[in-house]
This record gives sequence, C-alpha cells and structure tokens, in this order.
Amino acid sequence: MRAELPRLDRDASDARIAAALHEHGAVVVEGVIDPDLLARFNAELDPLLEAVSPERSYLNPAIDWFYGKRVRQLTGMATKSRIFGEELLCHPFYEGVCREILGPSCAGHQLNAAQVMDRGPGAEQQMLHRDEDVWVHLPRPHPEVQLASVIALVDFRAELGATVAVPGSHRWERGREARPEELACAEMPAGSAVLYLGSTLHAGGANTTEREWRRAMHMSFVVGWLRTEDNHYLSTPPDVARRLPRRSQELLGYAAHDALAAGGGYLGTVDLFDPVELLARNEL
Ligand SMILES: [Fe+2]
Repeated sequence: MRAELPRLDRDASDARIAAALHEHGAVVVEGVIDPDLLARFNAELDPLLEAVSPERSYLNPAIDWFYGKRVRQLTGMATKSRIFGEELLCHPFYEGVCREILGPSCAGHQLNAAQVMDRGPGAEQQMLHRDEDVWVHLPRPHPEVQLASVIALVDFRAELGATVAVPGSHRWERGREARPEELACAEMPAGSAVLYLGSTLHAGGANTTEREWRRAMHMSFVVGWLRTEDNHYLSTPPDVARRLPRRSQELLGYAAHDALAAGGGYLGTVDLFDPVELLARNEL
C-alpha cells in the first residue's frame, strides 16, 4: 500500500476539497467534527453498540459475505441517535462539500446511507468496490451522483482497519483492477473523515489487532432524484422526523425535489404538497 491520499484541513474551502475529490477521487480531511461533538457522539454510541451483535445476517448471502461476522452495524441513525439527527446529519461541513460535488446535478441533495461500522478484531479487508454500483443501471459516464465518507470515531491506523482507497480509480475503466501499490490507507486522527466519490474504488481495511474496534461513521449523500440505499421514510417515520431540525427532515428525503427552476418538475410530494411543509403543519 504505497499510494497517498491528498490531505486537507477542515479550514480548506469547499471548492478546494471538491477540487481534490475531482482530481484524486478521495481526500482525507482532518478535524471534520470537533472534539466535543466527537466525545458526545461516542458516549451516545457506547450503549447502542454494546447491544449489537456482529453475528447477524443481512438481506442475502452476498451481503452476509461482504460484511462478515466481525462488524457491529448501526443503521436508522436519525431515530437512534439524537446527536446524529440534530448535529451530524446537517453538519455544515457536508452541506458545503455536497453543494460543490452534487449541486450541479440536482436541485438538492439528500442522505443516501448513514451507518456506524464498528469493525472488530479479525475483520477482513472488504472487497474493493465502488459505492455507486448500487445504481448499476445508471449509464456511464455520468456526472457525480454520490459523495461518500467515512468519519473516524477513533484514531484510524492501518492495523485497525483504516479505510483503503485507490486514488485516481474514479477515472478508470470498470474492468481495471488495482495493483497493491495503487492502494492508499486513510490513516487519520479521530474526528477526521475520508471523503470519496461514488466512482472511487475503496474498502474497509483489515483489523489485525487483538482487541481493538475500529469505530467509524459511514455517511453518504446523493442527488435528490435518486433512490437511496437506506429507506429513511421507514427507519425515521414522520412521528420521529417531526422532532428533528427541518434541514435534517429535508436531508432524510422529506423534502420534495423541486427542479422547476431547471425546467423540470417535482419528485416526492404527498397529496401534491411538499412533505416538509406538511410535517411543519402537523398534517403528516
Ligand atoms: Fe463502500
């Protein structure tokens, strides 16, 4: 693993971070969430993760194999975690970078997936993959539709299973396989994030430690007109969503995607109204 990822600080402009993403396909940004937010979020996660077993099954054997039996997952985060729903989901850092990467291709972006991935001792390196392949029917080439990220909730070291990414692979032909020296390891202090495009090859690294867990928050966003990986309407139903900030409701997909200004139309209405307005009026 000899390749390097570009590294920037939280103070870098959104445009600079986006430029690094467009050029390299992935970038490490240090200090994305501050130490206070990190500590409060970790404290909230402790009992939630304690109650989760890595020995679980998923929707089919392929996904069972992909995640393995050494990973504790938390999904439906806007329902389970107040800090996620109120602070992380609508964090200004993501708002800015998403506007740069996804803004040109939509009237508004939305959350795609938010999962805590706590990779335990013995977790093997995932298969290198592109997150955007969940939309395999989307013709290529296409503008960027996804901005993904992994936030380190503990210090990310190689032996702990820090995320592995392949710089430049967002521009590769699909059949090209990465050579070992083309892989880069996103080692970074807790509170940092590795951002990557949906088209960038990456994988969760192998955790070769004896007893440490690699706690991370995977969070990805997509253009507002695309079907999302997590079904937020069911995992965060209206009675839960109405207690969240309006911006979080919008990011969970409760906002209509209004492309009228671009000469298009609406998506996601209820009774021909914008669902966030109905939530605000207690009519949903
Ligand atoms: Fe992935």
